[in-house]
Amino acid sequence: MESKQLGKTGISVSAIGLGGMPMSISNRPPESQSIAVIHHALDLGITFIDTADSYCQDELDKHHNERLIHKALNSYKGDVSRMIVATKGGLMRPNGSWTRNGSPEHLRQTIRASFEALGGNKPIDIWQYHAPDSNYTIEKSLAPAKEAVADGLIRFVGVSNFSVEQIKRSRDVVDIVSVQNQYSPWQRQPETDGVLKYCEQEELTFLPWSPFGGSRRHSDLQDIPVIAQLAKEKGVSVYNIVLAWLRSKSPCILPIPGASKTSSIEDSVRAIDVKLSEQEVEKINQAT
Ligand SMILES: NC(=O)c1ccc[n+]([C@@H]2O[C@H](COP(=O)([O-])OP(=O)(O)OC[C@H]3O[C@@H](n4cnc5c(N)ncnc54)[C@H](OP(=O)(O)O)[C@@H]3O)[C@@H](O)[C@H]2O)c1
Repeated sequence: MESKQLGKTGISVSAIGLGGMPMSISNRPPESQSIAVIHHALDLGITFIDTADSYCQDELDKHHNERLIHKALNSYKGDVSRMIVATKGGLMRPNGSWTRNGSPEHLRQTIRASFEALGGNKPIDIWQYHAPDSNYTIEKSLAPAKEAVADGLIRFVGVSNFSVEQIKRSRDVVDIVSVQNQYSPWQRQPETDGVLKYCEQEELTFLPWSPFGGSRRHSDLQDIPVIAQLAKEKGVSVYNIVLAWLRSKSPCILPIPGASKTSSIEDSVRAIDVKLSEQEVEKINQAT
């Protein structure tokens, strides 16, 4: 598997990662299926998994996805020493809804709980502040992450759903290695709001979330004629075309396609070998 540098850390990770969300929210598969998906991703050479404390069904189920990933890595027969697990904190799941909580007390507590859920025997590889909460300043909400780095609970810090201004403010508090914002054929804001350009300039890894529009919308990709036509011409899936298109946008991009089936992640990694010409990229730009 092709690899990529994680920010300026000097650490190499697979150029395509695995998004853990579909394995833990509503309509999630049986645990044995999810473990098989994670094991298969590792077999395929994936060394980067994205998760969050809030990938679960509700508050009582908090940290489900982190515990699942820990269980899968623990039971994997091969080498897991190079695996990077990027988790997040700052969202709550009351009755299955999504709300923000950037209170420093909550973030201190959830960082500790994520550390435990991921095994409790080494620092969290990457902890990302999930989304800014306007009830607290960026400085206040990121202070617990800075403390946790100093205490050996977190190795690297990232941010998610941040503007350029917010990223700059967060970097004044703590070193940031990655930014995770929504980016798909239907959501191209990172191209215009300056975040992608900033990440490239500053050598931050950009993790596009919901690259296929998420679990509800992904099958609509077939209905974008340019994408369907290119997939047909190249004999690959529409998912491969979308990942190749995203990867063409900047060397700092590391897609994290979600999967709850082994066939999905197996197909997604094939995108590594799909190359699009400038004209093909432009055709997709025009059509989306
Ligand atoms: N930071 C944030 O605020 C935020 C928000 C949302 C997501 N995320 C992260 O981003 C990751 C990716 O986003 P996502 O999971 O919401 O959506 P996504 O990656 O856009 O789409 C995932 C869905 O697409 C299907 N799929 C994926 N690859 C496929 C393939 N090659 N062939 C056929 N079907 C395929 C999967 O189906 P199956 O389930 O049937 O395998 C899955 O349900 C998440 O898992 C999560 O880690 C972050």
